[in-house]
Amino acid sequence: MRSADNLPFAEATRAKLGDTLYRYLLGGARDAGGADGDANAAALRRYRLLPRLLTGLEGVDTGVSLWGHRFGAPLAVGAFAGDRVFHADGLLPVAAVCRRLALPLIVSEETVTPLAEITAIHDACWLQLRGAGPLERVVRLLDMAVESGAMGVIFTALAPTHPAPDMQPGGFSISEEIAARGWSTIGAAAGVEALPTFPAWSAETFTEVCRLADMRGLPVLLKGVLRGEDAALAEACGASGVIVSNIGLRQSARWALGVDRLASIRAATSLPVALDGGVRSGTDALIARCLGADVSLAARPVLSALAAGGEEAVASLLTSWCDDILAMLTWCGVDGVDALGPDFLASSPSEEPS
Ligand SMILES: Cc1cc2nc3c(=O)[nH]c(=O)nc-3n(C[C@H](O)[C@H](O)[C@H](O)COP(=O)(O)O)c2cc1C
Repeated sequence: MRSADNLPFAEATRAKLGDTLYRYLLGGARDAGGADGDANAAALRRYRLLPRLLTGLEGVDTGVSLWGHRFGAPLAVGAFAGDRVFHADGLLPVAAVCRRLALPLIVSEETVTPLAEITAIHDACWLQLRGAGPLERVVRLLDMAVESGAMGVIFTALAPTHPAPDMQPGGFSISEEIAARGWSTIGAAAGVEALPTFPAWSAETFTEVCRLADMRGLPVLLKGVLRGEDAALAEACGASGVIVSNIGLRQSARWALGVDRLASIRAATSLPVALDGGVRSGTDALIARCLGADVSLAARPVLSALAAGGEEAVASLLTSWCDDILAMLTWCGVDGVDALGPDFLASSPSEEPS
């Protein structure tokens, strides 16, 4: 089991969920070889910020403008499946907090709470879908995204489907759990559906997907990007952004670290870039910004807070992160997130060759 020291509410989460679910939430991949800890979070923690003094700063705005929206901070809540397994009200408390703080919320297609109930609370929701399989499925889900008022769609093209069995942390299957409780997921035509692994999409298929989404006014983000050339390809296909992600190293611990890949991906595309994985504070989001990420996503800290203490815990967590951002921008001597860049970092560990 991974060290839980950097997750808020870890002990309360374990007490609420029990060992099996807790292991699914926090456990590492089976090819981790017994290594402990979250390598994504550790990679972010290698960096230190350099303040700038005597700037005559008169005020700070923590907000960012992305995809035609103004958000309260360069933060978003990442996708997680099976929301109601972790809290009786599912994603609704998270949506309420995201609305108050003006942060985007990513809704997994394996969410149990209906999408329209979530978007009724908060309009800045993205629907996250499996980036593989037949186009008829995609068309059905794009139409649902439009009808529910989602602001866009995200296609996860790396995990989370598994061509081999038992690849989820702890060997636990969230879809079997949802089915056993008699629930259905928002992405399934009925009940719970296995997500498609094949056919994997080609660049031509993804171009068609982007065209179908664009016809419906939905921007598309590609999640799971770890190579600059894939970011450039996503842009050429018509995507509106990329999410740099190794899916939290949950299915394999051997993927490259998104933090190490940010600079080369930033250089390869003019699209907005999001970092996903290992973000554990508002300061992490600012460090990611210095490395080239326009926005940072966090899943497990929010899920852990939700399971442990519902809306109050999620609000406390995300408010403290937004407060960190305000304080750190002030101490860095900049009036906003866009002023940050690599020159605000004291060290930049060398990047692995691509
Ligand atoms: C319980 C759980 C369920 C997840 N379900 C999904 C999912 O349905 N779709 C997806 O794209 N990512 C899913 N993820 C991955 C997260 O969105 C995110 O990429 C990963 O956890 C890394 O971010 P973190 O370090 O902030 O948790 C899930 C993660 C967890 C912990």
